[in-house]
Amino acid sequence: MNILKKNYGWIIVTILASLPLLVILRMINIDFSNGIALSFAENTVGEGRTTIEMLYHVSGEFAIRWMTAVLTCTPFFILFGVNNLFVRQAMGIATAIWSLIHFIIFIAAEGFSETFTQVNYIAGFIAVLILIPLFFTSNRKSMKKLKRNWKKLQSLAYVAIFLSLLHVAILDKTWIIYAVIVGLGFIIRVPIVKEKLIAIRQKK
Ligand code: HEM
Repeated sequence: MNILKKNYGWIIVTILASLPLLVILRMINIDFSNGIALSFAENTVGEGRTTIEMLYHVSGEFAIRWMTAVLTCTPFFILFGVNNLFVRQAMGIATAIWSLIHFIIFIAAEGFSETFTQVNYIAGFIAVLILIPLFFTSNRKSMKKLKRNWKKLQSLAYVAIFLSLLHVAILDKTWIIYAVIVGLGFIIRVPIVKEKLIAIRQKK
């Protein structure tokens, strides 16, 4: 029971992040008979969307939601004094995996070279590239090894969210809510604001 008490945060993130996979798996057929071939199931979704539109929607939305959540961890810590490295790490992994699933769906539907045909795809692609080193260094071992450079490397996450928001904004899909949440987080991190908020919290 003690183990569960200690780990419930990242276990909840893992379950929440995995559940939409069930939705995705219903919409694709994976054929292993000749290497790996992906094809899209037909008529699995309603809402006036095609299967591929729904796949982009589910994977893209979860990618940006988890990315927003990771960047909200530090402001959350400033406001409430609650911090959990493993929860943040699990959120980071969820971000990278959902972004990658989103990109794999694109490659399966359009082909890799299509990535370079539109500015918004290129922005998304650079964001995905940035997530790779972040994914592999989001652990204590890398933190110790990279020391001060670790923070510098992790601050690339700001570039990733900016590019992702740009990608979604150009596509004219839901982006303002994520920009507002991330923007508020940045205001909370400003040293003067941060010190004031911590002082208020500690007075209580
Ligand atoms: C190589 C990288 C990427 C490619 C090629 C790509 C491609 C696409 C495509 C084709 C769509 C559907 C557009 C439409 O329905 O008109 C889409 C939507 C979307 N993408 Fe990406 N994307 C990439 C990276 C990302 C990343 C890194 C994120 C966020 C972390 C992201 C978040 C979204 C979101 C939120 C949507 C809108 C989904 C909806 O509500 O329908 N994408 N993307």
